[in-house]
Amino acid sequence: MRVTVNRKAHFNSAHRLYRKDWSFEKNDAIFGKCNNPNYHGHNYELIASVTGEIDQETGYVIDVKILKDIIKAEVEDAFDHKNLNLDVPEFKDLNPTAENIVVVIYNKIKAKLDANLDLEVTLYETPRNFVSYSGN
Ligand code: NI
Repeated sequence: MRVTVNRKAHFNSAHRLYRKDWSFEKNDAIFGKCNNPNYHGHNYELIASVTGEIDQETGYVIDVKILKDIIKAEVEDAFDHKNLNLDVPEFKDLNPTAENIVVVIYNKIKAKLDANLDLEVTLYETPRNFVSYSGN
């Protein structure tokens, strides 16, 4: 039986959407208010969904405490109350759109999971705007 274990998490971050190799005018045309040079913040909500077989001894797919600790180390400690563009190395040369953020988070969590576990990450940038990635 394959079951999905879900864990929610939260972080606040600032970002600015722009490309260094584009003019301000082009960035403004593509990214609008998100290109504000003084940055802006979001209350990001995250759902990490881990799917695998139930271990017959423990009854777990994954100990949710382990998943919680991975999310804390890889996402909350790395991103919370940070400026994604300036403080987080993964976004030094990568535009911190919700799409790119969810891929970065997926890769960081996936690297810490047993290889036989599947992962999907859903990231809410606003209550109505959210993205998801499962490695495909
Ligand atoms: Ni934004």
